[in-house]
Amino acid sequence: MTVNWAEHFSSLASKTEGSALADIFKLTERPDVISFAGGFPAPDMYLIPEVQDVAKEVFSRHATKALGYGPTPGFSEFRDFIAARQTRLDMPAARQNILITSGSLQALDLLGRMFLDKGDRVLVEGPTYLGAITTLSTFDVQIETVPTDEKGLQVEWLEEHLRAWSRQDRLPRILYTIPTFQNPSGRVLDLDRRYYLLELACHYDFMIIEDNAYGELRFRGEPVPTLKSLDEEGRVIYLGTLSKVFSPGVRLGWLHAEPEVVRKGILLRQGVDQCSNSIGQLLALEFGKRGLLEKQIQHTSQMLKQKAEMTLSQLEKEFPPDSQWTRPEGGFYTWVTLPEYIDTQKALLHCVEKARVAYVPGPAFYCRNQGQNQLRLCYSEPSLDKIKEGIPRLAQALAEGGRG
Ligand SMILES: Cc1ncc(COP(=O)(O)O)c(C=O)c1O
Repeated sequence: MTVNWAEHFSSLASKTEGSALADIFKLTERPDVISFAGGFPAPDMYLIPEVQDVAKEVFSRHATKALGYGPTPGFSEFRDFIAARQTRLDMPAARQNILITSGSLQALDLLGRMFLDKGDRVLVEGPTYLGAITTLSTFDVQIETVPTDEKGLQVEWLEEHLRAWSRQDRLPRILYTIPTFQNPSGRVLDLDRRYYLLELACHYDFMIIEDNAYGELRFRGEPVPTLKSLDEEGRVIYLGTLSKVFSPGVRLGWLHAEPEVVRKGILLRQGVDQCSNSIGQLLALEFGKRGLLEKQIQHTSQMLKQKAEMTLSQLEKEFPPDSQWTRPEGGFYTWVTLPEYIDTQKALLHCVEKARVAYVPGPAFYCRNQGQNQLRLCYSEPSLDKIKEGIPRLAQALAEGGRG
């Protein structure tokens, strides 16, 4: 007798379904496809000879530690290193404020376990990071989308709704935001709005989760302080990651929060994966101690600058005049809004199959059906030549295949 798996799956597993997108993205692995889809660093952003040297040192001096289990919150020296870095970036931290995690997405999962019960209200930006929508959805919560504009999250809209939710006694538990070089829009939350948002969080008593995966990758303009650096109450929980500035393969992120949150995170994590990758932590620590993290950030930002400029100038030349896109000052992405008659989801298969060029359609970044005429371009991975060649191909394929 064969097993009828559908009858055995939990309700969570049953409602978790793949998307048509996953099948299309398999096609983007073909070498002839120019992909603006995945949010990955480019191969030449890695400092390979330096990492080889670091690895040699780690395995000659710390082989048993590298091959063993580590403590649940991360190696103490690595937590100290991250805490010192956070402090240098204007977010004072000590070891007990830092929990090392297996990528920053795991930190979000732990925070979900910590703060969310079924039916709770959770706020995200619209559009937002697809991974965060997926993780938060596992908690059976009510996800509300806060609209955004060129200055980021619309705080007036938020205040109005918080007032109404307060009257219904249904205030949100957390707000998840990527205020700097947002995924997918590349936008930065305006400084005044940062203060306003913090005031709202204090007044209406909810936590802010600040995901700063791209914040250090600025290639233009003036830095804006992180929410965490402006936070006086400890209500901002900061998520950091090495995925965009060192290597996504080491699967290392961290959570910077009040010690009580870190302690609870350690307990919750014991039932999940127990500890982060030991080899990765020791590599990252040695890499960081040699000043190479700063070197890679500088190198990556320079490359991103050239790639963003090439992308924007090609968009200017090739895209229809009634389309718009964001002009990022850092990070990996620009967010394109096309005329309403273009359906980016419908057009994707045509773009990949006929024009050999890929992107992520807008609706992937919303919880409900929105963004049909929008798309995300990630300019970090393709080379300058591929960007130059890919954007005209994309413009033409969208015009042919995108009518809704
Ligand atoms: C906003 C944002 N947060 C987090 C991540 C993932 O980070 P990690 O690899 O540390 O889980 C990404 C990756 O694309 C991202 O765009």
